[in-house]
Formats: sequence, structure tokens, C-alpha cells
Amino acid sequence: MHPNIEKVLIDEKTLKTRIAEMAAEISKDYEGEELLVIGLLKGASYFMMELTQHLSVPTQIDFLKVSSYGSGTSTSGKVDIQFDTSRNLAGKNVLIVDDVVDSGLTLKAVRELFRTRNCKSIRLAAMLDKKERRLVKMVPDYYGFVIPDEFVVGFGLDYNEDYRTLPYVGILKRSVYEK
Ligand code: IMP
Ligand code: MG
Repeated sequence: MHPNIEKVLIDEKTLKTRIAEMAAEISKDYEGEELLVIGLLKGASYFMMELTQHLSVPTQIDFLKVSSYGSGTSTSGKVDIQFDTSRNLAGKNVLIVDDVVDSGLTLKAVRELFRTRNCKSIRLAAMLDKKERRLVKMVPDYYGFVIPDEFVVGFGLDYNEDYRTLPYVGILKRSVYEK
């Protein structure tokens, strides 16, 4: 285990098993349809790769990079697009995926943005859900694990761009960020 990790919250096997289950559920819901999975860079990347490999419906992938304005201080929920999708979304079944829903502002804003793009449908999937931290009403259509209000890293999640490559989700030692 990495020395800055307090505790492994979800190990690799548990993550992969649950993500495969989510893929089965999503495949069932979109049976007979085609899907465009859009991952929010960079955090969603590991979850998205694991998820899409197990989908049985015809699937395309794309990426979006946004920076969200202050969770906590500002409740505007506005997102700034840093890197947009490469495709026209009109008529597509879009599944937006992210690593974790925290305040809910990011996914809410991204969904509002996509509502202006004439998609056939829009749903949201998150690997982790910090339910108790929500500032706005935001219930992902699919989620992997509900987790407590702890700062976690790994499997795509970072602290100052570090720890994304850890193959598990772990609680970061407070001493790392409470200096
Ligand atoms: P929200 O708009 O507050 O829901 O923000 C969600 C975003 O905050 C996620 O996409 C992550 O980038 C980041 N985030 C929230 N909680 C954590 C965490 O525990 N570890 C790492 N990143 C987090
Ligand atoms: Mg993120």
C-alpha cells in the first residue's frame, strides 16, 4: 500500500466486480440501442475504461474536460469547458460518467449543458457517490458505491494530480493535505 494512504476503502477486485455489474445493468437498459459514453477527464478515465469493456451494446466513447466553480463557496453550478466532445451529440443516447459525485454541481451543470445539444437521452453514471455531501439535488442513474465523507484517491481520483494510478480507492492520510 502507498505510504500516504490511510486505508484501502475499495480494493481492485471489489471495484472491478461491481463495475462489471453496473455494465450488465446498463447493457440491459439500453438493449437494442446504441450508446455514447462520455467520460469527464481525467478522473473518470479508469472507471470508464473498465465499464465500457463490459458493455454488450454498441458503444462509442468520447471525453469532456470541465473545471467546476467552487463546491462550497459558490453554488452557481457553472462549469467551464476546457476540452469539448469531438462529436455532434444530436440523436445520441449519452451516458455521462464521472469518478465521484460530491456536491453534485459538476454533473448537474454538465447535464444542463448537454440538454441544449439535442441528445436522444442523457443519463449519468458515477463510480462513487458521497451522498451526504450533496449541495444540489443530483441522483446519478447508476452508481457503484456509496462512500462516506472522506477524501479518497486512486482508480482515477487524484489529490493535486497524484495517486490517480493506484489500482484501488483509498482514503488519503489527512497529514498529506492538512499542513
Ligand atoms: P462535485 O461537483 O462537487 O460533485 O465534484 C465532483 C468532483 O470533485 C469529482 O469529479 C472530483 O474531481 C472531485 N472530488 C470530489 N470528491 C473527491 C475525493 O474524495 N477525491 C478526489 N476528488 C474528489
Ligand atoms: Mg473530476
